[in-house]
Amino acid sequence: MKIIKNGTLVTPDGLKREDLAFDDGKIVKIGEISPGEEDETIDASGCFVYPGFIDGHTHLDLPVAGTVTADDVGTGTRAAVCGGTTCVVDFATQYKGDTLLGALETWKKKAEGKMHCNIAYHMAICDWNGKTKADLPALRAAGVTSFKVYMAYDTALSDSEILEVLGEVKKLGGIVGCHCENGGVVTELQLREIGAGHTGPWAHPLSRPAEVEAEAVNRFCYLGRLAGAPVHIVHLSTKLGLEEVRAARRRGQTVYAESCPQYMLLDDSNYSRPGFEGAKYVCSPPLRKQEDIEALKEAVLLHEIDTIATDHCSFSYEGQKKAGIGDFRKIPNGAPGIEHRPVVFMHIFGDQLTPEDYCRYLSEGPAKIFGMYPRKGALLEGSDADITIWDPSVKWTISAGNMHQNVDYTPFEGLEVSGRPREVFVNGVCASKDGEPTEALPGAYVAR
Ligand code: URP
Ligand code: ZN
Ligand code: ZN
Repeated sequence: MKIIKNGTLVTPDGLKREDLAFDDGKIVKIGEISPGEEDETIDASGCFVYPGFIDGHTHLDLPVAGTVTADDVGTGTRAAVCGGTTCVVDFATQYKGDTLLGALETWKKKAEGKMHCNIAYHMAICDWNGKTKADLPALRAAGVTSFKVYMAYDTALSDSEILEVLGEVKKLGGIVGCHCENGGVVTELQLREIGAGHTGPWAHPLSRPAEVEAEAVNRFCYLGRLAGAPVHIVHLSTKLGLEEVRAARRRGQTVYAESCPQYMLLDDSNYSRPGFEGAKYVCSPPLRKQEDIEALKEAVLLHEIDTIATDHCSFSYEGQKKAGIGDFRKIPNGAPGIEHRPVVFMHIFGDQLTPEDYCRYLSEGPAKIFGMYPRKGALLEGSDADITIWDPSVKWTISAGNMHQNVDYTPFEGLEVSGRPREVFVNGVCASKDGEPTEALPGAYVAR
């Protein structure tokens, strides 16, 4: 048995100065614990002990635009545990012609022998047909309770298909998230930018203005209302989109909202960096304006946002992003962040949020919405021993030179931050220490 002593536990009942013991992958006792001869004591003096952080939105080993993300499950989950994340919910994607169960198997294979942390899967439904519909209960039985639909890209579904998906997933008690951007309008605005000779990265946000997101959020919420189903808005990035979430909630709908640290820290001036550097920030939705940043931060303080994820979707600047020189539409969309989510989120809010708030946004919230609570997302007897011992006193600077993400830059380069995981346990096994990975591969597929 391992016993964590001298730390402050962040539990569903509040902060506790108690010991926590775990054994065989489970938390077995919380309270005053006297170690026996065989037991190992872990000193958490000066630290908060959190239920391991959960990143509810990652893309590992994802084929995009003729290339594949720089991080696979091995490098991505290794970086995750170095930053305190013990579980990611990645996107398995059903491409045209795939079955849902086939897509799940493909994604599970990508993870075999590579899991530094746990992995659950959302299923991105991109080919809605009779077989897909008929297979939904089997996918639910295989442990998938959450889904994603796109309103943009070649993976988009039509509105009527999305309406059907919402209705069918509701029958299973699952949740549908949506990439809310009006894809048709994006294509038209891209053509206008290119027609005007605007080929650089700075034209990317011009082709995806806030209205493109807000209209799609509005539409998805109303489709949810028609279906009588809850909806999940992923990577919310704008004040206008937030207003649509608020309006739907005022109508009495259940709307979950996710945002990401980059949308609360970095603005669209980054697209005008010298040379082609702006490509490093090309993700969709794009970085926004200061008023959007302020609106999202206020929403976090008001607890109007439910989860903070990364949308980690990494491409190297040199080898991959530069494919878009001369045409911003060819820059693979996405940015890295899986390693830095907890520390950047804490940097943004500091003492404005409590440890309980951090727990809710980074761990408990995603566990609850995605059907893993209280197995995950809580320090409770019987919960999985996914534990992040967080030392708030460590001061350091984020840099590509000291990170583990398999990519040649970080959008947070040079950010001076406080806090680092002292030790991270995944299913009771130490996966990282002082921000460096161990040799262990303790992660597992999380059937929900
Ligand atoms: O630019 C991004 N975020 N790419 C990842 C895919 C998505 O839409 O979430
Ligand atoms: Zn998306
Ligand atoms: Zn995404």
